[in-house]
Amino acid sequence: MLRRLHSEQPDSFAFTPANKKWAEAQTTKFPEGRQASAIIPLLWRAQEQEGWLSQPAIEHIGDMLGMAHIRVLEVATFYFMFQLQPVGSVANIMVCSTTTCMICGAEDLISVCKEKIAANPHEISADGKFSWEEVECLGSCSNAPMAQIGKDYYEDLTTERLAEIIDELAAGRVPVPGPQNGRYAAEPLAGLTSLTGYESGRTQYNASVQLAQDIGDTVKRIDGTEVPLTTPWLGTGRKAAKKPASKKANAGRKPAPKAPAEAKAAAGRPKKPKTMKAARKSGADDLKLIKGVGPKLEKLLNTLGFFHFNQVANWSKDELSWVDDNLEGFKGRATRDDWVSQAKILAGGGATEFSKRAKNQ
Ligand code: FES
Repeated sequence: MLRRLHSEQPDSFAFTPANKKWAEAQTTKFPEGRQASAIIPLLWRAQEQEGWLSQPAIEHIGDMLGMAHIRVLEVATFYFMFQLQPVGSVANIMVCSTTTCMICGAEDLISVCKEKIAANPHEISADGKFSWEEVECLGSCSNAPMAQIGKDYYEDLTTERLAEIIDELAAGRVPVPGPQNGRYAAEPLAGLTSLTGYESGRTQYNASVQLAQDIGDTVKRIDGTEVPLTTPWLGTGRKAAKKPASKKANAGRKPAPKAPAEAKAAAGRPKKPKTMKAARKSGADDLKLIKGVGPKLEKLLNTLGFFHFNQVANWSKDELSWVDDNLEGFKGRATRDDWVSQAKILAGGGATEFSKRAKNQ
């Protein structure tokens, strides 16, 4: 594939103040005179900020590192992970089409991308939100077919599920990454047949997905304010600036998922909902049919006095805020995964996409 600079380029590039600070800190990792060694992280950060690498970005990084622009261009054009053309404002969907994924249906997933996004890879959809490309093995072959979207893997995909994921992203939601058929990590779909004792102490999602959920920046463009900037090799820990990216830099982008504190403020003043001492005689509902509720959270909800879908369905904004506050270790999860809407469907005897999949496990 021919990799060259895009025909249309922006006038300039600048890191956000926080990303600039981060980039400058990276150069201090290397001995004096060897600052060019920071080229990959700096190019990557520029791409995380803008979605792709423009000529001004490549030149800017060359100037920062004291490198000839052509040397930076050589690196940017060598590695396929660098996007040399604009990508969708929400996400660039990377479908693995290597052997295992190909055997398990990657071509069908590509057809979905062609149909829903654009006829050709690296072409932006009509609404500007998506682009797609084929990539080589992403190392998740046991969960084939799969695609990387933003920073996370969506595995065990079907054409229907990929289409839904694209629709959810277009609507501003971020579906839970990881296996999409309800299984845990790469375990057998029918459940463990050995090491079964290990199930009890694990997190709601497998480690990668749990971390992705906790960080919550799957398709967010990185402006540098996300993680503290620590520079232990300088002898001090420095925090990244809290200043948000400029309006211009954020133009046309999807707002970042709300942090728990912001989500709480939007949700209202915490007010304890009505609780129950025990489940009704008919027995507790399987709250795990609500997407985002795993065995641990179900237990926690029961401890808090919630056993039934209709209890969850009736939470007001203020009550939802109280619940979010009291989900130790999972704060903000009830709002983020919209438990109330799901519970309304389940309480009425209906089924959600997630509950259907969970029941078929
Ligand atoms: S073949 Fe697709 S992840 Fe390995």
